[in-house]
Amino acid sequence: MNQTIDLILSHRSIRQFTHDPIEPQQLDLILQAAQAAASSSFLQANSIMRVTDPLIRQQLAELAGPQPYVAQAAEFLVFCADFHRHRQIVPAAHTGFVEQLLIGAIDGALMAQNALLAAQSLGLGGVYIGGIRNHPAEVVALLGLPRHVIPLFGLCLGHPSQQPEQKPRLPQAMVVHENRYPERLDEALLADYDRQIQDYYQARSSNNKVQTWSSQIAGTLGKEARPFMDAFLQSQGFNLK
Ligand SMILES: Cc1cc2nc3c(=O)[nH]c(=O)nc-3n(C[C@H](O)[C@H](O)[C@H](O)COP(=O)(O)O)c2cc1C
Repeated sequence: MNQTIDLILSHRSIRQFTHDPIEPQQLDLILQAAQAAASSSFLQANSIMRVTDPLIRQQLAELAGPQPYVAQAAEFLVFCADFHRHRQIVPAAHTGFVEQLLIGAIDGALMAQNALLAAQSLGLGGVYIGGIRNHPAEVVALLGLPRHVIPLFGLCLGHPSQQPEQKPRLPQAMVVHENRYPERLDEALLADYDRQIQDYYQARSSNNKVQTWSSQIAGTLGKEARPFMDAFLQSQGFNLK
């Protein structure tokens, strides 16, 4: 083990923050860390919107849930896939491909994880906010995002005022497969994990509930997943060819 791995393995999302700001030098390091991530074809197809206006923050907090920590966190960053910059530089650029949507989403996530890890290494905490995709067109309008730019998710950052228990992950044997995808699900491993997650939800210090992982995913996947997304992407110039 080393400090980097210790830090990665101690991850938990933080949703409660003190009122302390993040020092500008620290924020700069976090943003540098984000930009240091690898970049598909070196396209650098992302922008980060730093939302400092309290009114815009409040509206984003409402649109995302409501999720009050979006307004309360010291910093709120919105990671975007951005092909607008390329089109300004190369007006004849071919954009709107599904592949480019993947690039924007993948590279944006790599940047964000670098940012969160950098923040955590400085004693800060944070949580991603996919909830901003509940109302993507409103987010575009609020942030003045041009066509060919889409908001992927937000990231709240600040000084933690909670120390939640860590959420256990699936056993490695259910996630990592060697050479060939397994023919069937390992029911025994899943049953163990369901018990582990049920114990975690029952024992944790806030928001206790009686739920297994299987019942949780059945609930989430029993609903439609933002079915308006296709039309939204088209309207932002991601024609998905
Ligand atoms: C892309 C992404 C979007 C997320 N969106 C939200 C969100 O809108 N609100 C929230 O409270 N947590 C959100 N989360 C945090 C997850 O709920 C959390 O990572 C998961 O439950 C595991 O908990 P942990 O991060 O504490 O280990 C998001 C996580 C990811 C990766």
